[in-house]
Amino acid sequence: MKIAIVGCGFVADYYMLTLGNHPDLELVGAFDRDPVARTRFGGHFGVPMFDTLEALLADPGLELVLNLTNPKSHYAVSKAALEAGLHVYSEKPLAMAIDEAEELVRIAHERRLLLSAAPCSYLGEAAQTLGRAIADGRIGDVRLVYAEMEDGMVFRERHQDWVSPSGAPWPSKDEFSVGATLEHAGYYLSWLCAYFGPVAEMTAFAARCFDDKGTGQPPEELANDLSVSCLTFRSGVVARLTCGLAAPKDRSLHVIGTEGILSLTEAWDYASPIYQRDTQGHWDSRPAILGKLLRRIERGRPGRHWFGRRIAVPKSGAKVPGTSSRMDFSRGPAAMAAALREGRPLGYGADFALHITELALVAQNANKFSMPYRPRSSFEHRPL
Ligand SMILES: NC(=O)c1ccc[n+]([C@@H]2O[C@H](COP(=O)([O-])OP(=O)(O)OC[C@H]3O[C@@H](n4cnc5c(N)ncnc54)[C@H](O)[C@@H]3O)[C@@H](O)[C@H]2O)c1
Repeated sequence: MKIAIVGCGFVADYYMLTLGNHPDLELVGAFDRDPVARTRFGGHFGVPMFDTLEALLADPGLELVLNLTNPKSHYAVSKAALEAGLHVYSEKPLAMAIDEAEELVRIAHERRLLLSAAPCSYLGEAAQTLGRAIADGRIGDVRLVYAEMEDGMVFRERHQDWVSPSGAPWPSKDEFSVGATLEHAGYYLSWLCAYFGPVAEMTAFAARCFDDKGTGQPPEELANDLSVSCLTFRSGVVARLTCGLAAPKDRSLHVIGTEGILSLTEAWDYASPIYQRDTQGHWDSRPAILGKLLRRIERGRPGRHWFGRRIAVPKSGAKVPGTSSRMDFSRGPAAMAAALREGRPLGYGADFALHITELALVAQNANKFSMPYRPRSSFEHRPL
């Protein structure tokens, strides 16, 4: 399938470096409105660069546009691509306002085009293995989920020095003005919605805890850097998702069922370990002495521990060469290409992306919505 990239900044490299995993995807060219980014990206990857968005959208044979622009450009670029009759895979969120995201989905449906959004990590081996373990009833009926998306004090790290392999700087100002929740909530929201279906009701809290991010931005330009969302899924499962930029790094997930607990250690690792423990949070190890020993070591320590019966996660080739990333960013567009080739509906399509976007927008800006909030969007749930 012929694809093109719009937006050639930091994250575009991660797509370029994982495109090779999906020979189905043929990149015809790219465009960025910033001429510096155009020269850098085209030069580094040897990719033909378009001079305008219109020229890219008019390229004969082009079928799918990867919208990798900044969140504030997502709506306009995706709308232009859909109106040009092209399928769209957008970086998260679909748009910065719910009604804009709804409009994109409406256009996609009207024109029978596919629209999907990052993150695609629910397609990763660890997420799929965890989903199957839940569906197989390994921990009985799931009642509660704790999902952590704590990125640590990124703004106190030397992020000014972070560059992608092609030399694109990490867009710190954009990240801090868009907000940690809009940037990160989608990871676990998409997993949870894939496992448990649409959310019936949520109560969220958001705050800006740090007014100085070291970027020179005035506080009013900075988004909330903490959110806590309590979600009730239509299936009855209750979840608490925390997204923050201050507490120590923790991207773990704990699924609590009537017969046990499943814990996954790292959302951003497609091969993340998964552990099963008993309902008391202990490892029912054989020989039992091992479990007893661990309990003694754990005694008095804060937090939840990872020890438990290890669930086998298939090996994952999801690495981005030259970086520490263990995610295959191109797997999302590849899933779209496969659905189109096989003439079947996309498992997690436009309605799913809209639901995730709506939940993330409400969580990020919780102080602007009355709570509890009942999402307007929904999607047809096809359990794993
Ligand atoms: N930075 C990360 O670590 C990271 C990781 C995963 C996902 N993302 C997501 O990827 C997206 C892009 O982030 P990034 O880090 O690459 O940002 P970036 O600022 O490095 O790159 C975005 C590029 O898009 C271009 N652009 C913006 N509006 C445009 C338009 N209307 N037409 C053409 N080009 C346009 C900009 O000039 C810039 O070069 C965001 O949605 C972000 O949430 C970022």
